[in-house]
Amino acid sequence: MVKYLNSIPTKHAKLVKWVEEWAEICRPEGVYWCDGSKEEYDRLCNELVESKLAIRLNPEKRPNSLLFRSDPSDVARVEARTYIASKTQEEAGPTNNWIDPVELKKTMLDLYKNCMTGRIMYVIPFSMGPVGSKIAKIGVEITDSAYVVINMHVMTRVGTKVLEVLGDDGEFVESMHSVGKPLAPGESDNGIWPCAPMEKKYIAHFPETRQIWSFGSGYGGNALLGKKCLALRIASVQARDEGWMAEHMLILKLTNPKGEVKYVTGAFPSACGKTNLAMLIPTIPGWKVETVGDDIAWMKFGEDGRLYAINPEAGFFGVAPGTSNKSNPNAMASCAKDTIFTNVALTDDGDVWWEGIGYDAPDHLIDWKGKDWKPGQTDAEGKPVKAAHPNARFTARASNCPAIASNWEDPAGVPISAFLFGGRRPSTLPLVYQSKNWEHGVFIGATVGSEVTAAALDVKAGTVRRDPFAMLPFCGYNMGDYFAHWLETGKKSSADKLPKIFCVNWFRKNADGKFMWPGFGDNSRVLKWIFERCDNAGEYVDTAIGLMPTPEAIDRTGIEDEVSDEDIKELLTVDKEGWLKELEMIKEHFAKFGSHLPKELEAQLKGLEERLSK
Ligand code: OXD
Ligand code: MN
Repeated sequence: MVKYLNSIPTKHAKLVKWVEEWAEICRPEGVYWCDGSKEEYDRLCNELVESKLAIRLNPEKRPNSLLFRSDPSDVARVEARTYIASKTQEEAGPTNNWIDPVELKKTMLDLYKNCMTGRIMYVIPFSMGPVGSKIAKIGVEITDSAYVVINMHVMTRVGTKVLEVLGDDGEFVESMHSVGKPLAPGESDNGIWPCAPMEKKYIAHFPETRQIWSFGSGYGGNALLGKKCLALRIASVQARDEGWMAEHMLILKLTNPKGEVKYVTGAFPSACGKTNLAMLIPTIPGWKVETVGDDIAWMKFGEDGRLYAINPEAGFFGVAPGTSNKSNPNAMASCAKDTIFTNVALTDDGDVWWEGIGYDAPDHLIDWKGKDWKPGQTDAEGKPVKAAHPNARFTARASNCPAIASNWEDPAGVPISAFLFGGRRPSTLPLVYQSKNWEHGVFIGATVGSEVTAAALDVKAGTVRRDPFAMLPFCGYNMGDYFAHWLETGKKSSADKLPKIFCVNWFRKNADGKFMWPGFGDNSRVLKWIFERCDNAGEYVDTAIGLMPTPEAIDRTGIEDEVSDEDIKELLTVDKEGWLKELEMIKEHFAKFGSHLPKELEAQLKGLEERLSK
């Protein structure tokens, strides 16, 4: 018998039945339907503090904020344990892990059996996108983690208002989650982050039935199922089938000194400064950047033939280390209050600290593992010990961001003028160039690459990891077919209405290994040229790789010493030798997609090769 801890707030028979079926399998102590209220959020925060899973930060330093420390085995998205379980492996494609869905469900059902004993099963109705927006989608997450519930409160729109839109028979994405750590009678978490060992973690997606099953991890994208699982992996499949776009893109609002506005989205692999770009403070007078979203964009054509984007999220799940008042003052302000921190260090006066916060660590901290920490501390092998985990996060409300655009929740979305693609490329790729047309833009997106910096990844540091459209870990179907979907999208409108496509690279280095471009707020200088190009203005030269600004077309007023005439020339030339090597890497990359690689992209590759050989 399922025990309900509050009354069932919906007459949606399919939803109620789905919850009951999972309760029968997982056997929680009780089922609680989340209403999304502030009272619910505050109560769960207090319970998490009582169970010692959370520490309440000093309200004079960080009002209404908590700190969590996860298990050292549960600190990041686990790509190796993430599966696209489509009917056939070919549908999942060469870039996804695949297990036959029948087999995977059997394995996971065994794991889910009695997995919630001693815990509460929370049911979270959530909306990705403004509640009721035509572009928004509804999901319902079942979870046994109160940490997940409070994070979902911040990252999505949760509760009764969502059930009202869902009605008695609306469609929702079934999103099932358990930390995979049942409690024995009398046992409590008592400060120990619950999760299952790595070999029992599964982040599974069943694209045909639009289902998500997640087991064993309580962290980030593995557990907050609205974000990467629904808004990208499942939504990318829905977008293909329904003729729209679900992209790993920031959305920013750019206003020029005349008060004219353009909206730009940008896809960058993880750790390339996407959140910083979304919240940038321009260094050129009179320009303004405001944030609509920092991670995901859902786009549909409006009746006028333009693409309109919404940010399906309501908060930021940002990487803390490296975030400072220099790199991103708006992110710092966003997490000044009402924030959930995970795996940062704790100061003696109840505040947080992380590497790259912009000021020195105090003499004593408690590190992300809960241990005493002193500046300069080393481990047994003499290696520096980090106080915060490199992937430590802040979960902050978008509404607390000083740069948030006043219309960021417009249910109709904002009309997009430009798409940016980029990665960390110390060589070859120029500062910026524009694609010659839509197909060429799709080629640029399909060949996005970024230098691997994290030694932990299974790739040699310093090599380029291809991450097409920054969707490598997030595309819910065969990536070759996803390229085809992009090409199809370009046929649905005219060139004057479709977003213009650009490639940017903030990370070029000179022969001494020094960054050639200052980045951060100075990226507004590149945005200015992009803005101009969207109006078919802005000086350029038509080169073999695309339309490149003339050196004078990039406004360097005030940074001429930092970026000399020679530097800007080098940043804006076609490095023929580098590109010939790049071509070989692109060929290798494209070969992976076999017959799923669209002919148009093969033609683009050939065209580039021919232009470079002239
Ligand atoms: C993220 C990521 O956390 O892309 O947003 O990894
Ligand atoms: Mn992301």
